[in-house]
Amino acid sequence: MNIYFDEYNIRNLTSSDVDSIVKYANNHNVSKFLRDTFPFPYTKEDAERWIEFVLSDNSHLSFAIADKNELIGGIGAMFNQDVNRFTAEIGYWLGEPFWNRSITTKAVKAFCKFLFENYNFNHLTASIYEGNIASAKVIQKTGFVLEGVLRKNVFKENKFLDQYVYGLLKEEFIL
Ligand SMILES: CC(C)(COP(=O)(O)OP(=O)(O)OC[C@H]1O[C@@H](n2cnc3c(N)ncnc32)[C@H](O)[C@@H]1OP(=O)(O)O)[C@@H](O)C(=O)NCCC(=O)NCCS
Repeated sequence: MNIYFDEYNIRNLTSSDVDSIVKYANNHNVSKFLRDTFPFPYTKEDAERWIEFVLSDNSHLSFAIADKNELIGGIGAMFNQDVNRFTAEIGYWLGEPFWNRSITTKAVKAFCKFLFENYNFNHLTASIYEGNIASAKVIQKTGFVLEGVLRKNVFKENKFLDQYVYGLLKEEFIL
């Protein structure tokens, strides 16, 4: 899998991504808005375990966001089941040195196009924790709309936080 945008691409993870994952993921500014499965500190063993899991698991997709040199972030989708099987939840992160250059917005747009064109999804969602202004901007710029607020639904770093659920229908998606 390879999706190119500007000088970046979304591609499969490989075992040679370990060092770059640790370099950029081992950052509290990145992990604080993500699930606890994205740990802090983020060690080499965490990166190795993550790559092994991704390469062996079929219930979700997980790719690298990369520049021409190395992995600089991650993007993925979790498939839902049963009556929700035509939906998936996307997630993403980017190394802090690369923030605020529209890289993630372009990656998310390209990834949604890929998901709608290659899977049977009619609805994609993204869950954003209270206070994550940058991610809310990314998702709004991609065309997602706020569909609901799950009040104090997240327990992160000893605080209950609201969870903002954004959604995008296939028929609404414009690249
Ligand atoms: C969220 C994240 C992926 C955004 O990546 P990015 O490549 O910097 O995003 P973009 O540059 O495409 O867009 C960010 C937007 O937020 C804006 N922004 C960033 N911080 C902001 C702040 N504190 N207040 C207001 N706007 C802010 C930027 O100016 C930009 O908007 P603009 O294009 O209108 O100027 C990155 O911050 C990150 O990895 N965060 C930690 C992990 C995370 O939160 N993942 C998402 C979980 S839902």
